[in-house]
Amino acid sequence: MSRKKLVRFQENDENPNVIQAGKPIFETIKGNWNEVQFQNSNPIVVELACGRGEFTVGLARNFPNLNFIGVDIKGSRIWKGSSTATKEGIQNVAFLRTQIELLEKYFAPDEISELWITFPDPFPRDGDEKRRLTSPRFLDMYKPMLKKDGCLHFKTDNTDLFNYSLELFLSREDLEVIGFTHDFYQSEWKDDHFGIQTRYEKMFSDKGEKIKYLKCRFS
Ligand SMILES: C[S@@+](CC[C@H](N)C(=O)[O-])C[C@H]1O[C@@H](n2cnc3c(N)ncnc32)[C@H](O)[C@@H]1O
Repeated sequence: MSRKKLVRFQENDENPNVIQAGKPIFETIKGNWNEVQFQNSNPIVVELACGRGEFTVGLARNFPNLNFIGVDIKGSRIWKGSSTATKEGIQNVAFLRTQIELLEKYFAPDEISELWITFPDPFPRDGDEKRRLTSPRFLDMYKPMLKKDGCLHFKTDNTDLFNYSLELFLSREDLEVIGFTHDFYQSEWKDDHFGIQTRYEKMFSDKGEKIKYLKCRFS
């Protein structure tokens, strides 16, 4: 492992805004995010596959009265968001380092007010459908964690993943698709994300890919 990575991992260990294996809080945080981590009762917004956390930190700057949690398995990526939040003194941000497959170990029913899935890996092979973060098994897991009427937002550059997800979401009786677009920056929502672009969003937008977005909720 490179020295840079080691330093980042050590900083994650020391930074209270990173919740990960090896810290006692990692085992007890489920149902206790507000009381233990944020020490307030503000609504919780979770970003899955947050990568370097640009979106989580960007939203936290804009909404000091909401709590934001970015989830990703890669410690060196989480480090970026975590250290940015620390440098700027942003208190309403935390990062959870885990496989998203294990999310129900960390969130109690109704603990999340809003869920974002931003530019997840597309897993294009048929045999990998179960690994897509918008596949049925993940939706079934997210459903109880989200408060009633809590929105699930999904953003991607990948047309196949978007169409797969849209078709699936529209076919589910327990999901209401509130709206969707195959070209976010030409859509009515273009100003709703406060100009915050994730690293992957910027990378694909710069290559001329249209950004797809959908918003839905469980009924
Ligand atoms: C394509 S990157 C997108 C990162 C960020 N959302 C962005 O837009 O820049 C996908 C991210 O998802 C994370 N990831 C993929 N599958 C995961 C899983 N099952 N559990 C946790 N993280 C996962 C990867 O580590 C990676 O950081």
